[in-house]
Amino acid sequence: EKDSLYSLIILGASGDLAKKKIYPTLWSLYRDNLLPSNTIFVGYARSKLSIADLRKLFEPNCKIIEGQEAQFDAFIKQNVYIAGSYDKEEDFKKLHDELDERESKVKAGHRVFYLSLPPFVFDTATQHIRENCWGTRGWNRVVLEKPFGHDLESSRKLSSHLKKLFSEEEIYRIDHYLGKELVQNLLTLRFANRIFSPAWNNHHVASVLISFKEPIGTQGRGGYFDEYGIIRDIIQNHLMQIFCLAAMEKPVSLDAEDIRDEKVRVLRRIAPATIENSVLGQYLGNPNGKNEDEKTGYLEDPTVPKGSVTPTFAALVLKIDNERWEGVPWILRAGKALNERKAEIRVQFKNPDGDIMPGNATKRDELVIRFQPNEAIYLKMMTKTPNSHFGMEETELDLTYSKRYEGVVLAEAYQLLFLEILRGRQIHFVRNDELEQTWRIFTPLLHQIENEKIKPIDYEFGSRGPREADKLLAENNFVYTGTYKWPGPGK
Ligand code: BG6
Repeated sequence: EKDSLYSLIILGASGDLAKKKIYPTLWSLYRDNLLPSNTIFVGYARSKLSIADLRKLFEPNCKIIEGQEAQFDAFIKQNVYIAGSYDKEEDFKKLHDELDERESKVKAGHRVFYLSLPPFVFDTATQHIRENCWGTRGWNRVVLEKPFGHDLESSRKLSSHLKKLFSEEEIYRIDHYLGKELVQNLLTLRFANRIFSPAWNNHHVASVLISFKEPIGTQGRGGYFDEYGIIRDIIQNHLMQIFCLAAMEKPVSLDAEDIRDEKVRVLRRIAPATIENSVLGQYLGNPNGKNEDEKTGYLEDPTVPKGSVTPTFAALVLKIDNERWEGVPWILRAGKALNERKAEIRVQFKNPDGDIMPGNATKRDELVIRFQPNEAIYLKMMTKTPNSHFGMEETELDLTYSKRYEGVVLAEAYQLLFLEILRGRQIHFVRNDELEQTWRIFTPLLHQIENEKIKPIDYEFGSRGPREADKLLAENNFVYTGTYKWPGPGK
């Protein structure tokens, strides 16, 4: 819309997330001409900054290449910055007046409030936005990032606070995993292919493993991390979103509400995670590590409280008590300071019935969706070894993106999500009741860990995590043979 003004307001503009993720994303969208022509970027934070100061904060993260300098200057010209506190009415009014003045010159004015703020200013800031800064010449949308509370009770408190101020249609809760191409593809893969749906149930699926691995430690962010731990940081949100898309029933349509209804339905059929069905780990430094991060154990990070029992690794099993999935273990595994960076889901199928193949050599089929890095979907399967009699080997039907979509640059999660916010589509955002359900599933376990100070198992930085996790997999019908290795891209 040419005669509308779009204001993207970043609260917490001088913070880490803003300079590392939000501003670089806004720049990339601007650069690629993906934003409405009449868009301004309005920073708001406590520090008194000029636009030049602000620019200095985020420019190094913007990956500007030669020839883009003029365009970057033009982007900067679209920036506004207002210094203000998060608890002062007059400051929010100042912000409002600034926006109102600009909006009054056009037909309509739309506002996106991006809250990149620490939890302790959330309540007051949201209240002031609603009371003193709400646009009257178009729509208003509020974007929130985790943490959405730290357990069921605190999350409920936050929800009821937000509910008083905004309608659910105005709230965009970000889980950036929902902005990843291959996470989004789960819907297409499952519901646009006849071939998978008859097998997508407990008759054919033996177990499912969803994993997230990172080869980095807390890197000085230990103070933040320690309050959350790996279950809150990764499993309760990112892995559970993947879980929902993989486990839910077919929605009645692709409407955001229909999709989110199905997610909630499947979540409601899951009993809370238990300590008996979990393996918790915490990393030790690796004396042979390549750098300080790798040499430093979690407890040696000076920002981590002494004797902390916060897990940096967790593997746990969920069971879905419904007709489709009864009896199938869903294993969620996430860890920091591991041997590699990888996020994937592995749907492992049962062995064929009445196997006639020689030598007990049949290995299970697995459908693997590799979210990152080297995005790929592949079906691990058995094939006849060429030129043999009945020799068999494992191979794959392979959709590796870098080969099949050579030259296509996948959009970054944040880019995609921003565009969805502007379009007003909530499919890839988390609804209030999804949060309620995921917290219900993990809160008893989290409280038990904290109350009983359950000591996690040590594992070395750069390893695959505690061995006990492999045992948990084996006990839950996930067969790992180690005989197959995905050749990866470019081979
Ligand atoms: C964030 C977590 O939500 O996701 C981080 O807080 C984690 O601890 C990050 O590193 C991983 O995101 P990605 O997109 O790099 O897999």
